[in-house]
Amino acid sequence: MNGANDGRSGPPAPLPGDAASPTDGESDTGGLPGPPPAICVLEGNALKTRLTRAVGIHYPFVGAGMAFVSLPPLVIAVSEAGGLGMLGTAPEPPLVLEARLKAIRAGTQRPYGVDFIVDRAEPHGFTSRDHIDTCVAAKVPVVVFHWSLPPLEWIHALKAAGTRVWMQAGTVDVARQALDAGMEGLIAQGRQAGGRNLGSTPTLALVREFRALSSDMLVLAAGGIADGFSAARALHQGADGVWVGTRLIASVEAYAHPLYKQRLVDGDAGDTTLTTLFGPEWPGKRMRVIRNRTVREWAGRESRVPPPGAVPETIGTTRLFPGVLDVQYVMPKFSSFLPTPDTQGDLEEMSLPAGGASMSRIDTVQPAGQIVVEMMERARRLLESPEGLDEEDEDDRG
Ligand SMILES: Cc1cc2nc3c(=O)[nH]c(=O)nc-3n(C[C@H](O)[C@H](O)[C@H](O)COP(=O)(O)O)c2cc1C
Repeated sequence: MNGANDGRSGPPAPLPGDAASPTDGESDTGGLPGPPPAICVLEGNALKTRLTRAVGIHYPFVGAGMAFVSLPPLVIAVSEAGGLGMLGTAPEPPLVLEARLKAIRAGTQRPYGVDFIVDRAEPHGFTSRDHIDTCVAAKVPVVVFHWSLPPLEWIHALKAAGTRVWMQAGTVDVARQALDAGMEGLIAQGRQAGGRNLGSTPTLALVREFRALSSDMLVLAAGGIADGFSAARALHQGADGVWVGTRLIASVEAYAHPLYKQRLVDGDAGDTTLTTLFGPEWPGKRMRVIRNRTVREWAGRESRVPPPGAVPETIGTTRLFPGVLDVQYVMPKFSSFLPTPDTQGDLEEMSLPAGGASMSRIDTVQPAGQIVVEMMERARRLLESPEGLDEEDEDDRG
């Protein structure tokens, strides 16, 4: 680990409102025409990209917004280490979000973000205008949406408050819509990404497709980024930053069940699969999960899963909105709620979202700050002589 550049020394990075405008990266060209190169450039002892300059962070590392898992301790740890921590929101009332934002601001002065899942086809979707207003009031530096595009007025309200608005997309079509809607960043969610996943293209190919849409848009790579090599390869091949999920579940600060973390350490590339099996809470949505007993038993029969409520069987208990509302929840069979430290029951029955390509690169549970710094410092060294970084990423066809 490089202590001089571990993100903890020196003054906090500026918050977006302090310095950077959305085009700040471009102003780094010193008045020369054209946008700066999309690939990273090494500046002194830091790994600088258009992302780090735009948001005011030390490393082009963004923690994936993961519902249930990415709570304030993980967000704070990632941001304090020099990355961008990202709060994951489960279906929670705005007052829970407000409490989480307060906790983050008490823990770090550095930039952070909030990730929302939007399902325009779902009338009682998890994310409402009240959630957006909560972010506007808190002047959240970055807000990311996933699944469906949000209503335009949400984007406008956030941008008017100085918030950067990004979209996690698995297809060029959605990426193009995000651009048209005025969003400022794209997270290219490759097919190998863990969790809810709409992509069918491997991560780095998708990065290239998004880059071809717009040369000056921020593009982050999501799916299979879990060590210095995978991060360096993504940066070398045109990503402005990496968006890291599975690796961060196997961190000390992640709010995940210890046995779930251990599964990520023990697991390998072929141990996950895409399935629509889980989710009476939000049915029919494709996820990449660990192939546990229930997934194996139902493989190929997902369409025959009984509709929500039809099966009285339960698989465990958990606690929702921990530390704020503390609601006890009995998990129905096929629940899509992942196991946290509050969950009791058999993990072989539960949804364990993860990416196999990432799992193959995870050896141990570590503090999140150490994950950020080690991954980025290794990437920085590899990028100094980038032989071998041109190769494609592993297309995890599990
Ligand atoms: C446990 C878990 C929960 C996730 N929850 C969310 C979420 O709430 N919102 C979201 O936008 N993406 C979510 N994702 C997907 C991530 O944003 C990201 O696409 C993925 O983790 C990247 O691939 P990787 O896991 O190989 O790093 C989740 C992923 C995992 C593994």
